[in-house]
Order: sequence, then structure tokens, then C-alpha cells
Amino acid sequence: MPKVYTGDLTKLFDISGKKAVIFGGAGGFGEAIAEGYAANGCSVCISSRSEEKLKEATAKIEAKAAPGVKVMYLAGDAGDEEFVKKAVEIVTGPEGLGGCDILVNTQGINKKMFSWEIDTEYFEKMLHTNITSLMLTCKYFGNWMKDHNLEPGEAYAEPESGKPTPNHGYGKIINFGSVRGIRIVGNGGMGNVGYNTTKGAVEMLTKAYAADLRPNIQVNAIGPNITYTPMMVGLLPPDEQTRNNIAAALPAQRIGYEIDVVGPAIFLASAASDMVTATTIYPDGGLVATS
Ligand SMILES: NC(=O)c1ccc[n+]([C@@H]2O[C@H](COP(=O)([O-])OP(=O)(O)OC[C@H]3O[C@@H](n4cnc5c(N)ncnc54)[C@H](OP(=O)(O)O)[C@@H]3O)[C@@H](O)[C@H]2O)c1
Repeated sequence: MPKVYTGDLTKLFDISGKKAVIFGGAGGFGEAIAEGYAANGCSVCISSRSEEKLKEATAKIEAKAAPGVKVMYLAGDAGDEEFVKKAVEIVTGPEGLGGCDILVNTQGINKKMFSWEIDTEYFEKMLHTNITSLMLTCKYFGNWMKDHNLEPGEAYAEPESGKPTPNHGYGKIINFGSVRGIRIVGNGGMGNVGYNTTKGAVEMLTKAYAADLRPNIQVNAIGPNITYTPMMVGLLPPDEQTRNNIAAALPAQRIGYEIDVVGPAIFLASAASDMVTATTIYPDGGLVATS
């Protein structure tokens, strides 16, 4: 049955007691969201390839976590199907969080390559990291949510190969797209063919998963504006004022900060967004509207 929230109105945005897995969780946006979730009582497992960065991020998230919250990490490549299957087993098992209500995909890479000199190998790596890895995590964690997050009293039915799963488990999936998923860069594109392509695909991957995982798993994307995260070091000026001058014409009169995606990520993880699915929220300071 499609779920409708009938609970306490003061708990509409409440994510306490929930369990979230965040791929790319030691990166700029991933860690900020993990801190926001943990501070609001949601247990988190962060995952990416560098164990050293995961350990550092885990300590920072733990320092901000509400009492009783579990913070853990899992090192691996989200583009490796066997790793993703193992991640479902570990996160939902007794050694992990014991379940999964929320999946956040913030893993991604970005390299500027002008169209006349695109490195095919790197282009394919971008497709794999920015698209295929999201397909894998949505597939395996989405399946798990649909078959396991059943309402009390709802009977489990064994899924049949080739048919949609008969189970209606709930969950929240949040993919990271970008304003670059719907908007090219001015001044000649600035080497963004690869990145624009992958982020455009995230828009449709998100909508198509929302259709497949209906009715109780909402699948949405967040499409931020330029933000000075580790991904953008070297691609943006080091001086904060100079960076913000890039966005002087926007209603927000600045580029993004990591905290700007945390509110949307809490909203999309909570019951407040139960009717919001197959769409993208752009915390972009008005960029899309003014283009
Ligand atoms: N910053 C911006 O201006 C901006 C704007 C719009 C959208 N976005 C998008 O927002 C998301 C997060 O970006 P960010 O700025 O926070 O970048 P970031 O700081 O570089 O974080 C990205 C994270 O992804 C992880 N990662 C990369 N490849 C991976 C793989 N194969 N498997 C698992 N983890 C992997 C990286 O860790 P390891 O290298 O250790 O694996 C890193 O922690 C990305 O999808 C990005 O495209 C960013």
C-alpha cells in the first residue's frame, strides 16, 4: 500500500533512529550530510575508497553525533558490483547498522577536458563513477529496502525473477546530480562535456529508479551549484571572495557551501518528503532560474 504520513506533526522532519549509508561520505558534501544526519540522531555508514580519509571523517562525524548514534565506515569502490553487494550485507547486518532506511550517493569525479582532446579512458571512468556506481547502489540497496522495510503486519512475498518485486518496503534514495545536469557552462563550455553528460544521466537515472521502486521508496536528486569542496580545489580560485565574485549576479550573490546541501538532504530523508519523488532539488542560489 502507498504510505501516507499520519504521525505527529512535530516529527515530520525527524530522522532520529534512522539508518543511512552515504557513498562518497568522506568527501565535501558526503561528510557534511553525514554530520547533519548524525547530529539529528540518524546512524550513518560512510563509504569511499580511501580508508585514511574515512577514518578522519568518522572522527569528525562522531564528534557531532547525537547520543546513541552509530557511526561506521566501509572502504571500497562503489563502482565494483561485488563490493556493493557486500556493503548491503554488512550495513544491514548485525555488525553494521542493522538495516538501511536512507541511501545517499555523493561519490563522483570531475575532470575538465575540452571536446577536441577528451581522454576516452578518463571519460569512461567518469561514466562508471558518476553513473554506473549509482545504478549499482540504487539497485542493491533499493532491492533490500523494498523487500525488508515492510510496515508492521505487511506480509513478505518472495520476489520472482523477471517480475517487479511484490514487496512495498519504504526507503529514501538521494543521488547527487548538479546544476550541470540541466545547464551547460557559458564561455565555450570550459571542458565540461564529460561532466555535463554524467550529471544529465543522473537526472534520468533518478526518475527511472523512482518509477521502478514505487510506491514507498522515494528517489530524488540534489543538484548543487559550484561549491569549494575537495573536488573543486585547483578548479576554483583559492580566495573565498574571488570565488564568490563568480556568482555575484545570482540572487544568493555567492557560490555554494557544503552546509547548503544538508537541509535538502534531511528533508529528502524525512517523512516531510513522502510525496516528493522523481525530481531534483537545486540548492543553487537561483542559478538555474537566472540562466
Ligand atoms: N563541489 C561542487 O561544486 C559540486 C557541484 C555540483 C555537484 N557536485 C557533485 O556532488 C557530489 C559530491 O561532490 P564533492 O564536491 O563533495 O566532491 P569530493 O569532495 O571530491 O567527494 C567525492 C567523494 O567521492 C568518493 N569517490 C570517488 N570515486 C569513488 C568510487 N569509485 N567509489 C566510492 N567513492 C568514490 C571520493 O573518495 P575516494 O577518492 O576516497 O574514493 C570522495 O570522497 C559529486 O557527485 C559531485 O559531482 C559537486
